[in-house]
Amino acid sequence: MMKFFKRFKDLGIEGAQAKYYDKLTREHRLGEMKDQAREAAGYISDGDTALEIAPGAGYLSIELSKLGKYKITGMDISKDLVEICTENANEAGVEVDFRQGNVSNMPFDANMFNCIICVLAFKNFKQPVKALSEIYRVLKPGGTALIMDLNKDATMKATKKVAENIGLKGLKAFIAGAIQRSGAYSRKEFETFIAHTEFKEYEIRNTEMGFSIFLKK
Ligand SMILES: C[S@@+](CC[C@H](N)C(=O)[O-])C[C@H]1O[C@@H](n2cnc3c(N)ncnc32)[C@H](O)[C@@H]1O
Repeated sequence: MMKFFKRFKDLGIEGAQAKYYDKLTREHRLGEMKDQAREAAGYISDGDTALEIAPGAGYLSIELSKLGKYKITGMDISKDLVEICTENANEAGVEVDFRQGNVSNMPFDANMFNCIICVLAFKNFKQPVKALSEIYRVLKPGGTALIMDLNKDATMKATKKVAENIGLKGLKAFIAGAIQRSGAYSRKEFETFIAHTEFKEYEIRNTEMGFSIFLKK
């Protein structure tokens, strides 16, 4: 049965786990986040607005803010991660408006953002169709949303690499990769979710570990 509603999702990373997530991201993933920021910057110009959904520790938004005069907002369900994001932005000397919120009911008016990006988080959302519909609502006409995530049908080797990218090795990487992959969606599931929204134009590109989904309003 198609998963329009999933239990055990919409969980924010809080407390000691949030601090550990920040440490792991800072130590292992800044390079990939710089690349993702450059990709998002290709869809915006100076003065434009961008939203990162579920920014984790905030480094992608922070890197994006260094690439132009954009107005960037980051929204995560985790209270503690929002605090960590804000501290990280202050430390980097950049301005990003990090705030708490749930992708299923975003605290934004319609048509607010030229670009929306969401990395390795869509599989964590409880209501995928609601999440996509909310993305459509807050995206400006002509804007692009970019979702990067794992593919449930990817090889174990590919998903293990995701865990290796955060410093895990051997069996630990294998198990972490398997857990991540089990919660992810397949290409077919994504296509069905999108078909239940107002998005008419989209492209799904395969990547090493999953896919990049470009949605145009
Ligand atoms: C695996 S982390 C990915 C974070 C970041 N994008 C990265 O690449 O490191 C998943 C994130 O989704 C957030 N999250 C989970 N459910 C959410 C929801 N319903 N709305 C907003 N954020 C959510 C979690 O707090 C966490 O920051």
